Amino acid sequence: MLQHIPFVEDLLARMTLDEKIGQMTQPEKNSVKPGDVARLGLGSVLSGGGGNPDPNSPQGWRDMVTAFIAEAQESRLKIPLLYGSDAVHGHNNVVGATIFPHNVGLGATNDPELLRRIGRVTALEAAATNVRWAFAPAVSIPQDFRWGRSYEGYGQDPALVGRLAAALVEGFKGEGWNSPTAVLPSVKHFIADGATDWGSGKRARMTDPDHDRTLAIAQMGEDFVTLLDKGAWQIDQGDSTIDEETLRTVHLPPYRAALQAGALNVMVSYSSWQGLKMHAHRYLVTDVLKGELDFGGFVVSDWEGVQQVSPDFDTAVRESINAGVDMVMVPFDYESFIASLRRAVQAGEVSGERIDDAVRRILNTKHALGLFGQPHTDPALLSEVGSDAHRALAREAAAKSAVLLKNGGVFPLPDDARLLVAGKAADDLGLQCGGWTITWMGGEGATTTGTTLLEGLRAGAGGRRIEYAPAGEGEERFPLGFVVLAEEPYAEGMGDRSSLALTGEHRTLVARMRARCDQVAVVLYSGRPLIVAPDLEGWDAFVAAWLPGSEGAGLADVLLGARPFTGRLSFDWPRTLADLPRRAGSDALFRVGAGETAGEPGRLPVTAAD
Ligand code: GLC
Repeated sequence: MLQHIPFVEDLLARMTLDEKIGQMTQPEKNSVKPGDVARLGLGSVLSGGGGNPDPNSPQGWRDMVTAFIAEAQESRLKIPLLYGSDAVHGHNNVVGATIFPHNVGLGATNDPELLRRIGRVTALEAAATNVRWAFAPAVSIPQDFRWGRSYEGYGQDPALVGRLAAALVEGFKGEGWNSPTAVLPSVKHFIADGATDWGSGKRARMTDPDHDRTLAIAQMGEDFVTLLDKGAWQIDQGDSTIDEETLRTVHLPPYRAALQAGALNVMVSYSSWQGLKMHAHRYLVTDVLKGELDFGGFVVSDWEGVQQVSPDFDTAVRESINAGVDMVMVPFDYESFIASLRRAVQAGEVSGERIDDAVRRILNTKHALGLFGQPHTDPALLSEVGSDAHRALAREAAAKSAVLLKNGGVFPLPDDARLLVAGKAADDLGLQCGGWTITWMGGEGATTTGTTLLEGLRAGAGGRRIEYAPAGEGEERFPLGFVVLAEEPYAEGMGDRSSLALTGEHRTLVARMRARCDQVAVVLYSGRPLIVAPDLEGWDAFVAAWLPGSEGAGLADVLLGARPFTGRLSFDWPRTLADLPRRAGSDALFRVGAGETAGEPGRLPVTAAD
């Protein structure tokens, strides 16, 4: 519910129009000119994916963020600045931070208490760097796994998504929004971002991708053209044609749950519903979210999301603010935005009441976070970033997210097993973590700190003999082979794919291991279910490991039997591409709830969706 807090109302009454618009403005940290935070009274600054300081360290992050917060204290009214970053699976831009499994894996844990603890640890690591706003959780419910953001979805059951999102929000809140390590979550992307149709994505509007500053940040180079050929941007940020009943019964409940847990920020989706951009959707953003759901926090746009509303910038600004967007993530052209909104108010095209409503919501949230009294967190928190205790939690999460989908007598492993591990992914932190890790797209190799699966296997080998051949090279026969396959890291529309088949390289590696091992178990790192039906017959065992994060030892724990397999699918696993988008009658290779416990087949009570 929108409150009228005397402290805020008094402040609001003293603010000039420009100071109010300044609070509604969120540029990206590389674009803010020195002094502009104070001069313009900017309300927030963000790090986009990969918006890192140099050095990229917890201390480097704290120094960068603190400088912006300190500059805000030089403004006329000293309104505290709220710094935002995509802490979507831990404080994942920061080298040395604890990286948790992505949401697709956390959904397979079906463990709200775990999510609560993950939210708390993520908040502690973010607060240690003075970041008090995390752009998480996504409550997307992907209908089509060709979507590059599928791994940001917890599952297909709205009730499960709501339970996990609410738990994460409570973890971010901790003892209360005004407690010193509370971090503001951002429930996203409102609404039905995962229900867009293939072919309706941003690609349709891409004029000159070589001159798109946002895409340039992805630094994909020549890979970009390859990715476009694979389907990049064909579905992300597209149009959803579902009916309102589906929107309300599938995609709205997780927002209700997160708001009931106390969430005070919602991020609007780039996507459209029935042809109208969500950033300009007054009915859904104002009437439904702020009215029907009685949301008293503030709504933030997505990165350059306002600009997508109209080719005319003034029209885009006017329509977004009047639709109910309260703060605009305008990474580059923040002064153009400020001037445009000033013109709109002076021309009577945006009312003073709408401006006051937006600023009241922003200031109420800053007040709730206790920022006015305490704009800085305790620097001693830095010692907790990447701590053993935090990594133990990520290890537990990685273990609980793994789903044993086929077990032809492979697990549990004998104590004296002799096994050969193959696949570069077995010893690659970057592939374990996926996108939104250190950089926007993520990357291969030792991009941060943690333990790879291979390191975990070797540490937990006990009396077993575990050899490693990245390409499966060598002649010696082994009773058992683990083949670790991985999708290349991606984020957002860069991960849209027209095909979800395994690559030829994947199949060649499996064949090589098939030829020299009596049994073969495939371990798959992926942001989504891939089309493995044609290959499954030749595998003796199959583990869906998703994107387990920095603590690969957790995956080793279940493979070695130190922990039981408890993960259960939170999505139907399509048999063929024809089963996408998921709809009544879609076939599935495995149904939601599937997953075995080593040694004895079993199923947890299936989720409410069944
Ligand atoms: C991105 C994403 C959003 C993210 C924001 C800031 O484009 O859509 O999820 O929080 O921009 O990085």
